[in-house]
Amino acid sequence: MENNQVNKKRVFSAIQPSGMLTLGNYLGALKNWTAIQNDDRFDCLYAVADLHAITVRQEPAKLREQIRSTFALLIAIGLDPDRSPIFLQSHVPYHAQLAWLLNCYTQFGELSRMTQFKDKSAKHADNINAGLFTYPTLMAADILLYQSDLVPIGQDQKQHLELARNIAERFNALYSPTFVVPDPYIPKIGARVMSLQDPCKKMSKSDENVNAWVAILDKPEDIMRKFKRAVTDSEARVVYGDGKDGINNLMSIYSAVTGMTMEQIAAEFDGKGYGDFKTAVGEAVVEQLRPVRERYESIIKEKDYLEQLYKQGAETANRIAAKTFFKAMKKIGYVLP
Ligand code: TRP
Repeated sequence: MENNQVNKKRVFSAIQPSGMLTLGNYLGALKNWTAIQNDDRFDCLYAVADLHAITVRQEPAKLREQIRSTFALLIAIGLDPDRSPIFLQSHVPYHAQLAWLLNCYTQFGELSRMTQFKDKSAKHADNINAGLFTYPTLMAADILLYQSDLVPIGQDQKQHLELARNIAERFNALYSPTFVVPDPYIPKIGARVMSLQDPCKKMSKSDENVNAWVAILDKPEDIMRKFKRAVTDSEARVVYGDGKDGINNLMSIYSAVTGMTMEQIAAEFDGKGYGDFKTAVGEAVVEQLRPVRERYESIIKEKDYLEQLYKQGAETANRIAAKTFFKAMKKIGYVLP
């Protein structure tokens, strides 16, 4: 892990600590993280992006709990800390340090164009802090510190990744090659899980309607209830198509969980009603999430073990990040400590 082994691609990704990660987070990102980790062509590092979390106001006790819980969930989904370091972003000070340096190579205009900044500042008009504005340079630092080749992300983070690439290219051109220019890695299937109540909207834990979203840690009976109530159309045919957003969403969830193609799913449910299909999707999701929830429930109680794991992750991450950070410092003209 220590040295980026020849012909192995370095993969880095991070997730914000949130108390309630959803099926959308699982199928769109996390399930992929484990698949990539188990692929010998890749060398992975994963982080809980806890520094990013305070761009919106957080309650201390709750934040602490959510950071621990998100970390435990990363273990529960099958990430192996002996294979890929898993760490808390705040435990590696180089993230904040490199972010400062990169801020000085990023234009006000570029950051102003970030759609997430525009959305979030509209939503939190009373707290448009500088961190919210420079969030993408911190994210660029996260990625560039590990000389990442590939960054698994959802569609919504594409613009931030593009900025990270621009910053890396600019820095490399100004001095000499310093950072690997990262590519996005966007999974084809399940990348966008939509609300079960309004399938034109992305599934989101901030939805007021609890039936609109499924939490990774939801109990089986709740998952079943939510799928049985999922909004569909009146055609009653399980086929993928225009104007069938509800069914399209259920089909892509079923496909992401079972690995079946849309055609295979249509064939399986040919002549059957939506009721049967919704039950099948619910059951498939329950079975997929069951081992995750069970592992999570046992691991979250083991505080010392979790602490040992995130310390171990931070140690490796700090070693790798230090190399890149001092390299960048030197290029800029700093006297190395
Ligand atoms: N901004 C990402 C999100 O909200 C999380 C994130 C932080 C991230 N740093 C990253 C993702 C680096 C990929 C790489 O989803």
